[in-house]
Amino acid sequence: MDYQKILEDIELEIKPMLGDGKVADYIPVLSSIDPNQFAMSITLFDGTQYNIGASQKLFSIQSISKVFTYTLALKFYADKFYGRVGHEPSGDPFNSLVQLEYENGVPRNPFINAGAINVTDALISYYHSSESTYKEIIEFIRSIADEKEIYMDKAVALSEMEHGYRNISLASLMKSFDNLDNSVLDVVQTYFNHCSIEMNTQMLSRSMLYLANHGFDPVTNKAYISPSQAKRINAVMLTCGHYDASGDFAYNVGLPGKSGVGGGIVAIVPAKMALSVWSPGLNAQGNSLAGTKALELFTTKTGLSIF
Ligand code: DON
Repeated sequence: MDYQKILEDIELEIKPMLGDGKVADYIPVLSSIDPNQFAMSITLFDGTQYNIGASQKLFSIQSISKVFTYTLALKFYADKFYGRVGHEPSGDPFNSLVQLEYENGVPRNPFINAGAINVTDALISYYHSSESTYKEIIEFIRSIADEKEIYMDKAVALSEMEHGYRNISLASLMKSFDNLDNSVLDVVQTYFNHCSIEMNTQMLSRSMLYLANHGFDPVTNKAYISPSQAKRINAVMLTCGHYDASGDFAYNVGLPGKSGVGGGIVAIVPAKMALSVWSPGLNAQGNSLAGTKALELFTTKTGLSIF
């Protein structure tokens, strides 16, 4: 298949959509980003990449970081983890508080904010401090992306903390139900730190290969997690990776995926490749509008959906 030509065709088709949607202005530092940007990358199992658009431009990975932290939590806690965080879709917005109260402080899944905050808390308990936890998270990302130059944008992390009332509320509610071990502010700051990591679509598509290949990096042959853990992460990406638009994403794209409010999305084609797309204009559920369309066009043109 001529992947480069397919990416060029996709770029042409989504061009009229660029600028539509709304950038994530609830994080003030992200509100000034130009919504007309677009990038898409594919990484195959031999490491070959195909790229289109601004594929070297760094952006805030935001909730895509939840895939990395969930991977670390499953690696260390295995199925015990599901006592503190579930694996059901929430059907609610990513930052919703209501369900968490009804369900006694146990978040539905690791990809809504409450779930990811809880995952970060579990990692802090495992690594003993918020500093060492952040260091382990970023080192893990650098390893699976096979790229040393990956950093946090401190201005974004600060901006998130300054306006972090909702996430602080989610963490406080979990603490009140005895489902958070560490201090609310430490946990939320560490969560914001990993959300504020910057990557580009080339790095992100490369970083997801282990999930397309049963937990093994096909390029370096490193084993990160077991095949059954890789299956679970893919399943949760498919059912919960786009919050209350997860059904839409599965319906239109047909791949396990994870979005972030920075406008990035990653998607997995099992046994074949990993993809990443970026365009900052978001739909009402906080997922990239042109990015989702580009992935839909990709699976339609190639037939490479899981269905
Ligand atoms: O906590 C937040 O609201 C952000 N740091 C992450 C949210 C996010 O990326 C939702 N994804 N589409």
